[in-house]
Amino acid sequence: MQDNINSALWLPAKGAAFIAGPAPYTAPQRQEVVVRTRAVALNPFDRHVQTIGALACPWLTYPMVVGHDVAGDVVEVGEAVTRFKPGDRVLGLAGGVDKGRNRSAEGAFQTHVVLLEHMMTHLPSGLSYEQASVLPLGLSTAACALFQDDVLALARPQLAPQRRDETVIVWGGSTSVGLNAIQLAVAAGYEVLTTCSPANFGLVRALGARHAFDYRSDTVVSDLTSALGKSRCVGAVAIGTGSAPSCLDAVVAAGGRRAVAVITPPTSFDGIPVGRGRLRKLLPVLTNNAIGILKLKWRAYRLGVAAPFVWGTSLIHNQVGPMIFQDYLPGALAHGAFKPSPACQVAGHGLEAIPAAMAVHAAGVSAVKLVVTL
Ligand SMILES: NC(=O)c1ccc[n+]([C@@H]2O[C@H](COP(=O)([O-])OP(=O)(O)OC[C@H]3O[C@@H](n4cnc5c(N)ncnc54)[C@H](OP(=O)(O)O)[C@@H]3O)[C@@H](O)[C@H]2O)c1
Repeated sequence: MQDNINSALWLPAKGAAFIAGPAPYTAPQRQEVVVRTRAVALNPFDRHVQTIGALACPWLTYPMVVGHDVAGDVVEVGEAVTRFKPGDRVLGLAGGVDKGRNRSAEGAFQTHVVLLEHMMTHLPSGLSYEQASVLPLGLSTAACALFQDDVLALARPQLAPQRRDETVIVWGGSTSVGLNAIQLAVAAGYEVLTTCSPANFGLVRALGARHAFDYRSDTVVSDLTSALGKSRCVGAVAIGTGSAPSCLDAVVAAGGRRAVAVITPPTSFDGIPVGRGRLRKLLPVLTNNAIGILKLKWRAYRLGVAAPFVWGTSLIHNQVGPMIFQDYLPGALAHGAFKPSPACQVAGHGLEAIPAAMAVHAAGVSAVKLVVTL
């Protein structure tokens, strides 16, 4: 019997304002773990669930608790859990918004969250909750893109990878997803070519990218293909608004495998407000997005490029989840082979601080992840 008192940042209804308040404590089922959340990180999609959730996630039932990135302490484990015990310091992907979960007990933005055992990893002693919390959704999205059978289906990451004369293009390498994609691809033995702002060239190279180019440059596609040399391109990960068409061009010009993992939709949802004026902003964005998707699909079809859209929590339901959180990440973090990236920037403390931190995030960040401690 647990006497833990839970509090959550509730999304009471579609498009409503967040409200912090009491929440039921949910005991873990067989392969679940309850974690006392110490730090949560913010993702663009956490905001988008509020502004376009009715369209992007029509399955959600309200009131809902959103959020994906958790680091904290284990308080209770289900009867079939073998990897964790109360008191362990962990990070994990909170899957409450995922279609296959749709459960407020599994949203990150609460003090006692239910996580799935196979989507969690122990923290090594030197890793803070704040820095660990930046990992889960960025890492998961990158892993879905690189390793899922229905996306790029690359070789799995290892602590001592065998080097391959094959290259992955990561467009948007300084994003949270991109910094994880670079490290995972390198850990799987691939060379990485990437794009970002010049201010972040040093960062992406330090994490293993062979070359970095400015995605705003007119010559970026030809720069990427020249840098390939004799290495075979095995596909691209398209991160950032406008990245997918450029990645189609790059993989075609590269002459290798014609595959692009599309992470970002054609149109940004960042400018859509909550409340008044929402519909007026939303309609043109949705129209442009639908047109953008059709154009992208048609162009990919004509060029013979496979361009699946990635859903960053789909690894919960396939072999990639345990491959990352169970098999690869624990050793890679413990040996310092994988660096939790980007750097965390603490934006406040307490559930009430999350909406203000979301507004800061909506204004734009570069190679940092905003974190709220709880
Ligand atoms: N499909 C999914 O399930 C899924 C899951 C997670 C994220 N996403 C999407 O992935 C993208 C990245 O998310 P995140 O959390 O990783 O973002 P983030 O870290 O908050 O993104 C900030 C970074 O975006 C880069 N950037 C801005 N515009 C860009 C562009 N046009 N092309 C390339 N890079 C650009 C900036 O790089 P510089 O400062 O170097 O210019 C900045 O470092 C977002 O579009 C997000 O919606 C999708």
